[in-house]
Amino acid sequence: MPFTTSRGPFPATRMRRLRASAFARDLVRETALSPADFIFPVFVLEGSNQREAVPSMPGIERLSIDLLVAQAREVASLGIPALALFPVVPAERKSLDASEAWRSDGLVQRTVAALKDAVPELGVLTDVALDPYTTHGQDGIIDEAGYVLNDVTSEALVRQALSHAEAGADVVAPSDMMDGRIGAIRQELEAQGHSNTLIMSYAAKYASSYYGPFRDAVGSAGNIKGGNKHSYQMDPGNSDEALHECALDLAEGADMIMVKPGMPYLDIVRRVKDELKVPTFAYQVSGEYAMHKAAFQQGWLSQEAVMLESLLAFKRAGCDGILTYFAVEAAKALQ
Ligand code: PBG
Repeated sequence: MPFTTSRGPFPATRMRRLRASAFARDLVRETALSPADFIFPVFVLEGSNQREAVPSMPGIERLSIDLLVAQAREVASLGIPALALFPVVPAERKSLDASEAWRSDGLVQRTVAALKDAVPELGVLTDVALDPYTTHGQDGIIDEAGYVLNDVTSEALVRQALSHAEAGADVVAPSDMMDGRIGAIRQELEAQGHSNTLIMSYAAKYASSYYGPFRDAVGSAGNIKGGNKHSYQMDPGNSDEALHECALDLAEGADMIMVKPGMPYLDIVRRVKDELKVPTFAYQVSGEYAMHKAAFQQGWLSQEAVMLESLLAFKRAGCDGILTYFAVEAAKALQ
């Protein structure tokens, strides 16, 4: 028996009409990804011609400066605007006061200079925090009880940020969550003639368990004294507090703010963007990368489609840009 419908009433709106052809889907798509949305986090090693895989982050390598410069050329040629630089500091250079962090010829400072010399058009972000430099793996200077001292740490971060700016960093990115450090860094940058150095604040950074592979990559795994960073990173149960943090960092002189981690916190990105309407970034962190890669390697998820969908979600939530270990792969997929 042929299938028949009665004539009407027809749906007044057929949402499927605009989904029926590729041209129409292209025309009405609200959000799109481009390589210009990405910042690529990289890990730098001492030495030359050194390359080390990070086991929990398949496809990501720690590179010595010479190899990193070569990678930076590729990153720039793909249309990715910037790198975020993280050092792998040899154990013998770590200390209680983290003074290696602001040495003018430290690993980060030399890397920034080499990158800006070789690929000047590529933006360089530096991480301002003491965890790669402390023997205990905390982001700041601790008292006898292991408590991270706010104002003493902030002074150290000011020195570190200034040494990055002097080396030529375009953006300093404090990821430590001390109170008042954005204002202190901004004042010092202004006073020392670096009024155009940008600050991207890790403003709403949560005490997340998704950072494990990163701590592996920079070699701070296993040695975090006290076992967690709960006395300065945010409680994952909080949302209003993220707005308070972002508003403070903006008032202190941050140019851009960041929410971290990314996918589990896109609700925070949306609130921040709606309320504050400022350049807003999020970090798809190491654990997010690792879990995607694990599923890709098992053949459980389709690599390119899922990678791009995960990144599109950040844009749809309101991000102006995304720090992601997928930056190079995604930019290639988008060419
Ligand atoms: C440390 C820092 C961390 C990350 C960026 N900067 C780790 C932490 O706070 O313990 C994590 C990035 C990632 O997981 O990809 N200041």
